[in-house]
Amino acid sequence: MHHEHLKPVSAHSIAPLIGVLMMLFALSASAAEEVDAAGLLEQHCSSCHGSEMYTREDRKVNSFSALRKQVAACNSNLNTGLSADEVDAVASLLNERHYNFAE
Ligand code: HEC
Repeated sequence: MHHEHLKPVSAHSIAPLIGVLMMLFALSASAAEEVDAAGLLEQHCSSCHGSEMYTREDRKVNSFSALRKQVAACNSNLNTGLSADEVDAVASLLNERHYNFAE
């Protein structure tokens, strides 16, 4: 046994461990923020209209910024209120599925 190697834990020696823990925390926090756009669309948007709204012949939206604006406008009708990130993600999803504008 080499008891002479046991030193009291100093702040200096646990600093790298704290750094690793903070990184892991940041990673898990950013994973939790990942937006489930399809789920949001299903949950919040299908009460008023389904995808027929995005594919109708005389649809109003004709650019990605107009699409994002319309999603934000519809979002403001909702009590839950999507975050800016969620509006972005839902607009991108609709663009992918139906509109195909250059973002
Ligand atoms: C309170 C009812 C309501 C809710 C909830 C709602 N919408 Fe709408 N949405 C409308 C109406 C009404 C229109 C048609 C507006 C018009 O023609 O002027 C529309 C139109 C749209 C359009 C434009 C379609 C086009 O190209 O002409 C998009 C895109 C859209 N909604 C997305 C969404 C999204 C995404 C959500 C969920 C975040 C959502 N809407 C939730 C009522 C709603």
